Amino acid sequence: MSSSPFRLCLLPGDGIGPEVVDAAVTVLREVARRHGLALETSTHLIGGCAVRATGKPLPEETLQAALGSNAVLLGAVGAPEFDKEPPARKPETGLLAIRKALNCFANLRPVFRIAGAGATPVKDEIVEGTDFVVVRELTGSLYFAEPRGFGPERGWAQNTMKYTVEEIERLARVSFELARGRRKKLTSVDKANVLETSQLWREVFVRVGKEYGDVELSHLYVDNCAMQIILRPREFDVIATENLFGDILSDEAGVLAGSLGMLPSASLGGQVGLYEPVHGSAPDIAGKGLANPTGAILSVAMLLRHSWGQEQAAQQVERAVRAVLQRGVRTKDIAGGGAAVSTGEMTQAVVGAL
Ligand code: IPM
Ligand code: MG
Repeated sequence: MSSSPFRLCLLPGDGIGPEVVDAAVTVLREVARRHGLALETSTHLIGGCAVRATGKPLPEETLQAALGSNAVLLGAVGAPEFDKEPPARKPETGLLAIRKALNCFANLRPVFRIAGAGATPVKDEIVEGTDFVVVRELTGSLYFAEPRGFGPERGWAQNTMKYTVEEIERLARVSFELARGRRKKLTSVDKANVLETSQLWREVFVRVGKEYGDVELSHLYVDNCAMQIILRPREFDVIATENLFGDILSDEAGVLAGSLGMLPSASLGGQVGLYEPVHGSAPDIAGKGLANPTGAILSVAMLLRHSWGQEQAAQQVERAVRAVLQRGVRTKDIAGGGAAVSTGEMTQAVVGAL
């Protein structure tokens, strides 16, 4: 191990976050050991636990640690006790702030169906073979753009859907590049029949698409897309869309995978990549060993690929997860009432299959 260690910043967060991060790091350490890769981790507070300890959902110390790392692995944020708190004390504010601070504008959310994984209400003949990626714009639009807030006496409230050409263009490039390395089909999702932001979005995608003649670009309205994802999921390869549309569509797509607990994500664009499972903090099952660590473990595979440059190790993790699921090892969320293993058992099964 001659090169300097890879510095991984761990932000377990709230609810089941710590359990799934623990699982993912167990797998990452094992795969790193096997490949002779040096890994150095440090753990910091974000979300509700950070508000409890410091009064802030993203303490300065955490932000500096993240900025100084090679990559960040985040569990989940959110706890019901903060529901009525002002934005400055909401766990979610910490998550949005770190995405913005790291300039992670492109959020890749792969949606795949592992054959026979069960647990989805969608018929097998529709769902088997599903393999697409949602590229969600992550640092603009309704989540961030100004003006926002409440009017006098909360008589009204507003958020702003706004995109600059530059914001759309960089997201388009990430999406076209990704499609180029896959099945070369890109679906841009918008609401151009109603929204100006979507009309601009479409124009920019069409223009950038001229540089990617090998990629087939098509457009869908988001309402139609929500339907097509369930009716014909195999048709999709890469779906590129704005922040809120991507938030909604990726949860919907979780149904195809069997559970939201299955899905990983990578947020790219800045110097430091941010990796997190798509699922939330699930406070109702926290600390019980019931959480599905698959989304977090597959996030580590994405980290190996996109931030560490270890494609072979990434594929090794993905193969191990697939093998374990095909053997019928199931956490409760995907067991469909059948025999289920704990978070720890699932993790050990993946380690064993590496
Ligand atoms: C997600 C989550 C977050 C989002 C919440 C927790 C702020 O739903 O990552 O999809 O809306 O982006
Ligand atoms: Mg979401």
